[in-house]
Amino acid sequence: ADPDPLQDFCVADPTSGITVNGFACKAARAARSSDFFSSAISKGGSTDNPNGSNATVMDATVFPGLNTLGVSMNRVDFEEGGINPPHVHPRASEVGYVAEGILYVGILSTENKLYSKILKAGESFVMPRGLLHFQYNMGPGKATQFVSFNSQKPGIVFAPQTLFGSKPEIPTEILAKAFRVDTDTIEYIKSKFQDDC
Ligand code: GLV
Ligand code: MN
Repeated sequence: ADPDPLQDFCVADPTSGITVNGFACKAARAARSSDFFSSAISKGGSTDNPNGSNATVMDATVFPGLNTLGVSMNRVDFEEGGINPPHVHPRASEVGYVAEGILYVGILSTENKLYSKILKAGESFVMPRGLLHFQYNMGPGKATQFVSFNSQKPGIVFAPQTLFGSKPEIPTEILAKAFRVDTDTIEYIKSKFQDDC
């Protein structure tokens, strides 16, 4: 989904201070082998959090060689019972592969239809750009998935965190009306997202 590159590569120079659509390129002669390789998703992060899951991002901000190439990856690790909460990627479609474990994977369309399947290790899914989706580790045991995006920086918006944990907060009366509940119920849910990003 990203724009086409206009040169072989444009290794990101995150320090340049020049604001463009992506990162400025460092001089081509300054490119090194290390710009084209990464160990960012060789290991997963800690799943010791309320979701019981962790997404390790490998976009152009951590892998400078991806800049302008329109591709990136994530790795997501799950505890048994862990959830990668409902989220969207504003800038990319996603294709994913279950490397370990058993995941219940769901996708919601603009017609509010749920498409879902229980996937075993070795199986794949696709998330059309901008559609809400989630994965849940049904167990037994841990699970790991690897996903790739047609964007160097797909972005991710988690529905629960953005609605109940934004800074500043969405006013409680507004959420109470939207969710058709009383304000105490909204305050209670908000209290669960105080420390989330
Ligand atoms: C999984 O859906 C991810 O976006 O990391
Ligand atoms: Mn996703």
